Amino acid sequence: MSVPVLTIDGPSGAGKGTVSRAVAKQLGWNYLDSGSIYRALAIAALNNNIELSDVKAVVKVAGAMQLEFDCGDELIVNLNGIDITHKLPTENTGNTASIIAAYPEVRAVLLQKQKDFQQAPGLVADGRDMGTVVFPDAANKVYLTASAKERAERRYKQLIEKGIDANLIQITEEIKLRDHRDQQRAIAPLIAAEDALYIDSSNLSIIQVIEEVLNWVR
Ligand code: DC
Repeated sequence: MSVPVLTIDGPSGAGKGTVSRAVAKQLGWNYLDSGSIYRALAIAALNNNIELSDVKAVVKVAGAMQLEFDCGDELIVNLNGIDITHKLPTENTGNTASIIAAYPEVRAVLLQKQKDFQQAPGLVADGRDMGTVVFPDAANKVYLTASAKERAERRYKQLIEKGIDANLIQITEEIKLRDHRDQQRAIAPLIAAEDALYIDSSNLSIIQVIEEVLNWVR
């Protein structure tokens, strides 16, 4: 029997990370934060001073990067032996990731790295195309969203709490731009899978969302 997968897709700042980690912990399953793979590639490309429009160069970096994940209470990511965890959450990293994620060649290189996370006893996979492209046969799929205003406010709070400088108006604009880019790209756009449970978390607490997802899986 294949290893069960729960996919949780949705736009930036919808709470996917918190919900996915909590649900994975409750179920005792593994956790894939696919955004962190795109973010790690963004950091690698920026480190190498690569023109983001140079698809071939970005693909080369993607193929060469060695990633190690420690998915404990806090996700720790090593890129080519160096801990890049602190660089992952910045807006610059997220926006760069969103730009390079639109290249089909980049997505093709990163596909297997994501599939490799499907390990016993199960996997919670969080991203944009988990239920539609990477794990289309997943038994349980969730599409988690919230209004852009609500998501911007949450992201702002998160960054401030981590001691990262942030501006709410700028974050709102960036979230809208990122939504547009992730939803309109030609390949693997952000879209709810037909068989996904749709949750709008704008007026729900994180606990309520976690309960709803766990009930759906059980
Ligand atoms: O989930 P996140 O904010 O960490 O993702 C950063 C960017 O990576 C997101 O704007 C688009 C891209 N991404 C993607 O294209 N597909 C995924 N499965 C996950 C992230």
